[in-house]
Amino acid sequence: MNAIAKLRPGYRPGYAHVREFYTSPDIYESDIRDYWNRSWIWVGHQSQLKKPGDFITFDYGPESVIIARDRDSGIGAFQNVCRHRGSRLCLEASGNTRVFSCPYHAWTYELTGQLRRAREMGEGFDPADYGLLSLHLRNFEGLLFVCAGDEPPEIDEGLRRLRPLVAPFDLGKTRIAHTATYPVPANWKLAIENYMECYHCGPAHLEFARSHSIKDPAHMNAGLVDKLEARSRAAGVPTGEVTRNDPGAATLFLRRYPLFEGYDTGSRTGAPLAPLLGGLSGFDGGATDMQIGILNNFLIYADHMIGYRFVPTALQETRIEVVWFVREDAEAGRDYDHGDLTWLWHATSLDDERIIRHNQQGVNSHHFVPGPLSEMEWGIAAFYDDYLSVSADQIR
Ligand code: FES
Ligand SMILES: [Fe+2]
Repeated sequence: MNAIAKLRPGYRPGYAHVREFYTSPDIYESDIRDYWNRSWIWVGHQSQLKKPGDFITFDYGPESVIIARDRDSGIGAFQNVCRHRGSRLCLEASGNTRVFSCPYHAWTYELTGQLRRAREMGEGFDPADYGLLSLHLRNFEGLLFVCAGDEPPEIDEGLRRLRPLVAPFDLGKTRIAHTATYPVPANWKLAIENYMECYHCGPAHLEFARSHSIKDPAHMNAGLVDKLEARSRAAGVPTGEVTRNDPGAATLFLRRYPLFEGYDTGSRTGAPLAPLLGGLSGFDGGATDMQIGILNNFLIYADHMIGYRFVPTALQETRIEVVWFVREDAEAGRDYDHGDLTWLWHATSLDDERIIRHNQQGVNSHHFVPGPLSEMEWGIAAFYDDYLSVSADQIR
């Protein structure tokens, strides 16, 4: 019986998880393996791969993937591991190249992952047998997701349902305005659990709580939702919700919720920050929470989008990565102010780093006894359900 199976008796639905969930090296290792093989992970955006030869890499625990645009066959995703003796192949985070050449013995791969050249391998060696291992890849409105396993969770039907609610933002025609990394000395699950609930938003996020009604369910029913409906319709912003949490399928969630009166977007003053996304004709004063696969979260305002991910680097080390997107033709200084654009989620992410760090410190105590979840922490319960389904074999 492995570590998760041993600890599962301690898990009570409706309560926080037990200490070992965040402290056990065995559970950490099986988490990474399971999430890498059985879930979709957001790795980048098509605007990073415009020309043939453009590539990005993305690391997840000990895993690494290369995503590259070929001359003819579009975008592909490959394990960043040489087929000779296993060296990490591509060492840069992004760039443009003709081929990938291994830094160890110089095996050289095409942008399609095929092995082009390997020296002194003798007769009977067929390069066709040693192409890079590929991963499943999906491009949804420009956002790129990969899954390494042979049988990825079903996602296409879910994306079909999401598409009409996302298409008017034209996310394929955005670009990255800023990326920031907030390293936190905590297990990745505490980082993602923190993102899954807004119970902490009132007490912990002064700036965010001023503008986002989601901090308190009472505000969400105070007529704000009806007003948002009307404004969204007028501005061409889609309304509607998607929730999918089926075993064997990627978890999906989408909902637009109102900002407080006077806020057009997630800005310090409430004033617009950047040109309207896509084909929107105005600001509706809302924000769309979108989750595609449990690990990948996005927040879409009328004029910009934020993407978040929580990348495990060690048992109690996680990189919180925050990515700001604006319309592809928007220019810093002319169409938006970089400092104004990033102000809210920089401040909010610093808060999150602090509270997640303290959470891990407390959970590391042998006297931590998991307490009951609030009604506002329904997202954590959804994460636990997803976790149990992704880790099903380990738990059985
Ligand atoms: S490990 Fe890559 S060429 Fe030897
Ligand atoms: Fe937060």
